[in-house]
Amino acid sequence: MAHLAWKAAMSVGNAHIDHQHGHIIYLVNRLADFQGDREVDKRDIYGGLSDLTLAMTRHFHDEEQLMMTNGCPWYETHAGEHVWFVEKLTEMMLMEEQVMLLRSVSFLRDWLASHLAGEDLRAAPYLREPIQHTGNPAHKPEHR
Ligand SMILES: [Fe+2]
Ligand SMILES: [Fe+2]
Repeated sequence: MAHLAWKAAMSVGNAHIDHQHGHIIYLVNRLADFQGDREVDKRDIYGGLSDLTLAMTRHFHDEEQLMMTNGCPWYETHAGEHVWFVEKLTEMMLMEEQVMLLRSVSFLRDWLASHLAGEDLRAAPYLREPIQHTGNPAHKPEHR
């Protein structure tokens, strides 16, 4: 299966987000390599999916926080796509058949390629501020 590659044209103008995108592409490519590997075992695939789920969850959180802070008008639609994708990843983790699981990797690659080059780039003007790691994202200072 063809590998994805991060290109400068995919930059959203924020090094942190670009780095996360590059790492996610690396993890999807690693999963794609399992497709041609006869020795691969289910635990390897689950391990790869679990690394990807963790990286995506962190990334979606950071991306959504920036979009919300910067007042992106279509924030909710974009966040809805993220939720949908995490649901698909979760469904994959529940698959019993190794063959089905490996076939599903193509879906991950295709979704990612179109989301990064489409929706994330469209949101680039709202992703340019550096991320602030302030602990609990739900926490907002109270006004007294
Ligand atoms: Fe996104
Ligand atoms: Fe993204």
